[in-house]
Amino acid sequence: MPPPDTTRTGGWLFALVAAWGLFGCAREPKPPLERGAGVFQRSCASCHGVGREQKVALGFKVAPPDLAEPALQARLGDADFRRVIREGKGQMPPFGKMLDDAEVSDLLVYLRSLARSTPPGR
Ligand code: HEC
Repeated sequence: MPPPDTTRTGGWLFALVAAWGLFGCAREPKPPLERGAGVFQRSCASCHGVGREQKVALGFKVAPPDLAEPALQARLGDADFRRVIREGKGQMPPFGKMLDDAEVSDLLVYLRSLARSTPPGR
């Protein structure tokens, strides 16, 4: 019996690991901030991300606000954020069925970090 071709096996393993990394299936633990940023990109950025200024023109009665806004951050406690995310508000859809509690918690960490990175006086 010939010895197993280790170069070949190694190549396959490498491709597999690379594909895992590329498609984000690697299950190494990520910090909450990073996970929250991912949730934001997937679920919120289409309305609250860059370019939201144009969203009024897309027919929102109340435009999706800038979530980094210090006044908004001060007005909404964590429980308020959770409620809005779970139940929606006005023309914002509810995310209660799409995001579990852990994802909402990660999202909160991310949202609060936006406030801290907002320069004073903006
Ligand atoms: C389809 C567009 C859309 C998506 C997606 C969306 N929002 Fe909104 N969001 C809105 C609109 C529109 C409003 C303004 C609602 C109003 O005040 O009538 C809003 C308002 C808010 C507010 C302010 C609520 C308040 O009391 O002033 C928060 C906080 C918020 N969204 C968070 C999020 C988060 C977090 C996500 C992602 C899970 C998200 N939104 C996804 C459209 C969206």
